[in-house]
Amino acid sequence: LLASTVAMTFIGLAAQAQTVGFSQIGSESGWRAAETTLTKQQAEERGIDLKFSDAQQKQENQIAAIRSFIAQGVDAILLAPVVATGWDSVLEEAKEAEIPVVLLDRRVDSSDDLYLTAVGSDLVHEGKVAGEWLVNEVGDAECRVVELQGTTGSSPAIDRKTGFEEGIAGHDNIEIVRSQTGDFTRAQGKEVMESFLQAENGGKDICALYAHNDDMAVGAIQAIKEAGLKPGEDILIVSIDAVPDIFKAMADGEANATVELTPNMAGPAFDALDAYWKDGTMPEKFIQTESKLYTPEDDPAGEYESRKDLGY
Ligand code: AHR
Repeated sequence: LLASTVAMTFIGLAAQAQTVGFSQIGSESGWRAAETTLTKQQAEERGIDLKFSDAQQKQENQIAAIRSFIAQGVDAILLAPVVATGWDSVLEEAKEAEIPVVLLDRRVDSSDDLYLTAVGSDLVHEGKVAGEWLVNEVGDAECRVVELQGTTGSSPAIDRKTGFEEGIAGHDNIEIVRSQTGDFTRAQGKEVMESFLQAENGGKDICALYAHNDDMAVGAIQAIKEAGLKPGEDILIVSIDAVPDIFKAMADGEANATVELTPNMAGPAFDALDAYWKDGTMPEKFIQTESKLYTPEDDPAGEYESRKDLGY
C-alpha cells in the first residue's frame, strides 16, 4: 500500500509540472541575451518545462511559435512581442484554447482581455528620465541631439521617443536634429552614428546622443572615437538598459547616463502564473518594473563587476 501511495504521489507531482512556451524576439542586444538566460534559469529553479523559440526578429515566426505552443497544449505562453501591432488573431486563438499569455518587456496594441498580464517598465517614463537628465546636464546651452531609435514599430522605440520628447519639452535650446533606427543592435548603432557624424560637421555640431538602448550607444561610442572625438565629453551619451558594457564605458568616461531596465521579467511573470494556476488568482494587468537612472556618480566600475556574469 505504502509503495503504491508513494508512486501515486510522484505521478501526481509529475502531472503538476507545468509547461510554458516562450516566444523570444531574438538576440539583438546584450539585454535580450540576459532576459533569455534569466528566463531559462527561473524556469529551471521552479521545475517548469520551458519550450524556447527564437523568432530572429520576425513577427511571423513568433505567431507560428505561439500556434505551435497552442497545438502542444502548453499551460502558459510568455511572449516578448517584437512589434506592437498585429497580435489580435493569435492572442484570440490562445484565449479560446484557455492558455494564459504573459507579455514580457514590450506592450501590444491589442485589447488587454487577450492576455493575463504584462510585465515591463513604463517605457515612456524611461525616455522621459533620459530627457530630463539631459535638460539638467546642459542647462541653457544650445544642444543639438541625435537619436538612435529602436526597432521600428516596437513599443520601446515608440514610447522611448515620446518620453524623451516629453522630457525636453519647453527647453527650446535642446533640439533633436537627426533621428533614425539602429534596430537595437550595436552594429547598426555604429553605422547610423557614422552617418550622423558625417552629416553634422564630422560630429562637431552634435552635443548629445540619445540611444534607445545601450548596445546602440556602445556601437555609436566606437564610431565617435573613430571620428577623432571624445564620447562622454565632446558628445554626451544617454541611453537605456544598464547593461555591463555601458557601465564600462561610463567608468572610462565615455558614457554619461543610462536608465535601467531589469532583464528579470520572468520572475514576476512566473509568480503571477503560479498564483493563477494555484487558485485562479488574476494578477494586475500591468506588473511594472523599476526604471533607475545611473550616472558616473553611481560607481559604474562596481555596477559593471556585479552585472558582468549575469548572462548579458
Ligand atoms: O524591449 C526591451 C528592449 O529590447 C531593450 O531595451 C533592448 O535592449 C532590447 O533589444
